[in-house]
Amino acid sequence: MPVLNRAAELQEEIAEWRRHIHTQPELLFAVEKTAAFVAEKLKSFGVDEIVTGIGKTGVVGLIKGKGPGRTIGMRADMDALPITEQTGKPWASTVPGMMHACGHDGHTAMLLGAAKYLAETRNFSGSVAVIFQPAEEGGGGGNEMVKDGMMERFGIQEVYGMHNMPGIPVGQFAIRQGPIMAATDEFKITIKGHGGHAAMPHLTIDPIVAGSQIVNSLQTIASRNADPLQSVVVSVTKFNAGFAHNIIPTEAVIAGTVRTLMPEMRDLAQKRLTEIAEGVAKAQGAVADVYYDRNYPVTFNHAEETQYAAAAAGEVAGSTNVNAEVAPVMGGEDFSYMLEARPGAFIFIGNGDTAGLHHPEYDFNDEIIPHGISYWVKLAEDRLAG
Ligand code: NI
Repeated sequence: MPVLNRAAELQEEIAEWRRHIHTQPELLFAVEKTAAFVAEKLKSFGVDEIVTGIGKTGVVGLIKGKGPGRTIGMRADMDALPITEQTGKPWASTVPGMMHACGHDGHTAMLLGAAKYLAETRNFSGSVAVIFQPAEEGGGGGNEMVKDGMMERFGIQEVYGMHNMPGIPVGQFAIRQGPIMAATDEFKITIKGHGGHAAMPHLTIDPIVAGSQIVNSLQTIASRNADPLQSVVVSVTKFNAGFAHNIIPTEAVIAGTVRTLMPEMRDLAQKRLTEIAEGVAKAQGAVADVYYDRNYPVTFNHAEETQYAAAAAGEVAGSTNVNAEVAPVMGGEDFSYMLEARPGAFIFIGNGDTAGLHHPEYDFNDEIIPHGISYWVKLAEDRLAG
């Protein structure tokens, strides 16, 4: 079954909503305008229950079917990024230094489109909770909504998420069972030495030399400590030290990120990073203070729900257009918190040949709107078939 006719009819209207959201990007939890727009639309569709302010600025709408049954959650994210837009599109951001560079404008608009369709037709038994979350790009808005009791409050039994993916053709989907996106941890290593004159290094403990050796040694976590068949990324992205050409500073700070797909690798990376930083610093006579923060967990797709998601995508796109064994992505996603709370699945929808996510020239592809809406509708109608 291809794209639903009604979803195709809705495309222009949904694209207008998407472009409207695109003009007024908002960051993290400060998505008040977008949340208000979402709540107002849900109200106009006759959604049965609308609750705002969940997880600070999240919105949930509950759409009841024609009879009793289970409740599934379908989630979109609403926040933008601190990037200056360079698309030159008529609907480009009107807010300096902010833009929808990850397509969350499109995710929100597509889920609104599905809500409109489902509220019109109600061709299912049970309920659909449409979830609009803040602060996906840092801040853990998904986690805040879970902590706010969203799953219990709406009786949500399964959760599904969707993200657009540049490079995957329009009309195609990709998913996999198990880990699909990485755990995203952050670290900061402060190396304390003993500063002094650059011409008298023997009277100092140089934190830059110690730090350089730490940066090099951290490369051995992936190359020497991790099972070669497992995925680990350790990237040092900051190295700050010093202020003059003739002074050895007292302190150096190194920071970066660790990405993993399995809990054992996450534990290993944290343990080795700490041991290496402390041990290498000590060998230089310096001291390393290691701060390690476990950020978003692995986005883990549950087996059964992945099959339901792939089947719904297959009904829309044709099974040959659904890659059910896509390689995981080492980026992170805070839908992971919802998948820790309830079984579910996260799917990628092709955005076609566009600029990459988080790029200043990226724009959500409005052509994929009917595919996205049809996926949500088929998933709801299949999982809640009366
Ligand atoms: Ni995103």
